Amino acid sequence: MPEIGGRKGGVPLVCLTAYTTPMAQLLDSHVDLLLVGDSLAMVIYGHSSTLSVTLETMIAHGGAVVRGAELSCVIVDMPFGTYQETPALAFRNAARVMAETGCAGIKLEGGAEMAETIAFLTARGIPVLGHVGLMPQSVHTAGGYRAQGRAPEDAARIMDDAKAVSDAGAFAIVIESTVEPLARRITDEVPVPTIGIGASPACDGQILVTEDLMGLFLDFTPRFVRRYAELGASVESAAEAYADDVRARRFPGPENLFGPKVPRAASA
Ligand code: KIV
Repeated sequence: MPEIGGRKGGVPLVCLTAYTTPMAQLLDSHVDLLLVGDSLAMVIYGHSSTLSVTLETMIAHGGAVVRGAELSCVIVDMPFGTYQETPALAFRNAARVMAETGCAGIKLEGGAEMAETIAFLTARGIPVLGHVGLMPQSVHTAGGYRAQGRAPEDAARIMDDAKAVSDAGAFAIVIESTVEPLARRITDEVPVPTIGIGASPACDGQILVTEDLMGLFLDFTPRFVRRYAELGASVESAAEAYADDVRARRFPGPENLFGPKVPRAASA
């Protein structure tokens, strides 16, 4: 992944999630990287965590996003349970994701414990985006969705994780919900670009869940999100206006109707 991996320092990388073709088409010319995140389990499918998403679902959405993206680098998340067991299993599943979606690489969560797998994948042609700090697939062992790295021993472990992931060959690393000074230090100390979400403005790039910044994911807004639009409110008012028009027989109007076929004038 030379384009993204070479973007250490300089103009920050712009990254967003996408799960569908139309959203990928809308975002494509504005971002460097589109992530088909396993967050789709919560954002699209209404699950309470990311754990329930399957490889087949990620492949279906990955293919949809690739079909909508001409310029940006599309990365697909490996779902929980499809890569942790052995490097060989990770390779088989990641190879399926690459072959069946046409994406540019995969993302997996984990630090030092995943270094062997990351090295195995990258040595076999699969670009890997790492993910350290808060790892939503480990929510049950990490004690919830809390910011990471407050205690000195946690900060040291996350720093070691980032270095291990980078040394193993990841082309960049997502740092999620990690105290700011630590995310800044990781960015200073690892040679590959860092992409922050709830991390630090010093990161080499930023990523957000698109539905969060568009105001479409209504359950709650995390502290690290800035809302750039209120599309949820627009959707509701459009639905209300449509319902009013249908009930009052104002829709469909004459401009929405097909007339009877007009026979061609007989030639003289
Ligand atoms: O699944 C996801 O959307 C992610 C981003 C939040 C980084 O991992």
